[in-house]
Amino acid sequence: MSILVTGGTGYIGSHTVVELLEYGKDVIIIDDLSNSKIEVLDSIKEITNKTPKFYQINYLDKEKIRKVFKEHDIETVINFAGFKAVGESVAKPLMYYHNNIGGAINLLEVMQEFGVKNFIFSSSATVYGDPKVTPITEECEVGGTTNPYGTSKFMIEKILKDLYNSDNSWNICILRYFNPVGAHQSGLIGENPNGIPNNLMPYITKVANGELEILSVYGNDYSTKDGTGVRDYIHVVDLAKGHIKAMEKLEKEKSGLYIYNLGTGTGYSVLEIIENFQKVNNVKVNYKIVERRPGDIAICYTNPDKALNELEWKAEKGIEDMCRDSWNYINNNK
Ligand code: UFG
Repeated sequence: MSILVTGGTGYIGSHTVVELLEYGKDVIIIDDLSNSKIEVLDSIKEITNKTPKFYQINYLDKEKIRKVFKEHDIETVINFAGFKAVGESVAKPLMYYHNNIGGAINLLEVMQEFGVKNFIFSSSATVYGDPKVTPITEECEVGGTTNPYGTSKFMIEKILKDLYNSDNSWNICILRYFNPVGAHQSGLIGENPNGIPNNLMPYITKVANGELEILSVYGNDYSTKDGTGVRDYIHVVDLAKGHIKAMEKLEKEKSGLYIYNLGTGTGYSVLEIIENFQKVNNVKVNYKIVERRPGDIAICYTNPDKALNELEWKAEKGIEDMCRDSWNYINNNK
C-alpha cells in the first residue's frame, strides 16, 4: 500500500514526504514541477536514503492520474498541489479556481472510481477570513475569505463536506495551516520562491543575504502589541509531522470528516520576527514601515487544543528554530 502525495516536491509536500518515508511508508509523488524543482527528489533521497516514486503529472490530467491508480495500490491521498499566491489569485481568479478546485475534484473522482477513500487536504487558516475572536478554534465561522486563493480553499472544504454527507464511507481530514516557515534541519529542502517573495520569512532571508534591499513592514497601526500584524508561525517540520498524525487518525477511524488547525498557539508580530531573526542568526535586516497591505488582518493564531487532544500532535519547535532553519536553508542553497 502506498501514500499518494500531490505537490510532493513543493515546500510543505517535500517535508511531509520526508516524514512519510522515515515513518516507513511507500510514497508516490505526482507534481507538475510548476513551482518546484526536480532536484528536490535528490535531496529527499539524501535525507532519508529512500527514493519516492515520481510522476511528472498535472493533477488536472485525469487519464494520467488514473494510470497511477491502476499501477499502484494506494491507501491514502494527501493533496498539497495547488496555486498559492494570494496577489496572483486576485489577478487571475479563473486560473486559481480552475486549477485548485478542478484538480481536487479530479483526484476525488479517480479515488471514488478506485474505491480509495482516505483523503488529507491542505487547507489554510485563511478560511476564517478576518477572525472575530482569537485564538481561533475549529468551531469558528469560516467563509468571508478576501481573495480567490482563500476562497478556493473554502470551496474545496465545502465540496469535501458535501461528499462526506453523500457517502459516509469517506475518511477525510482537513488541515488548516497557520503560517509555515523554517526548513528541514539538513538545509537540503526548504522554501525558496522565484522572484520577489510575498511572504514575510522568505522576504526577510532575501534582505538578510543582500538579494533584496529592504523589507517593507506593512503597517504599524494595528491594535496589536507593537502595531504590526500578529501571526501563528509554525515550523514546516512540525507541520509535516501533523500530516503523519492525521494519517494515523484516518487509519484508526476508517471513516469520518475531521478538521484540525495546525499552528503553535502563539502569535508573533512582524517586528518580533525581525528581532528574533537578527538575534538568532547575527545578521541585520533593514526594514521600513509602510502602509498596510490591502486584505491583511491584524491578528491570527490558533487554539491548538483539538489537534493535541485528538491527534496527540503539538508543535515542538520554537521561533528560534524557525529563524535559524530558514536562514540555514538559504545559505545552503545560494
Ligand atoms: N508582512 C510584511 N512585509 C512583507 C510580507 C509580510 O510586513 O513583505 C507581514 C504581513 O503584513 C503580515 C505578516 O507579515 O502581518 C505575515 O504575512 P505573510 O504574507 O507571510 O502571511 P499571511 O498571514 O498574509 O498569509 C499566509 C499565507 C496564506 C495563508 C494565510 C493563512 O501566505 O497563503 O497565511 O492565514 F492563507
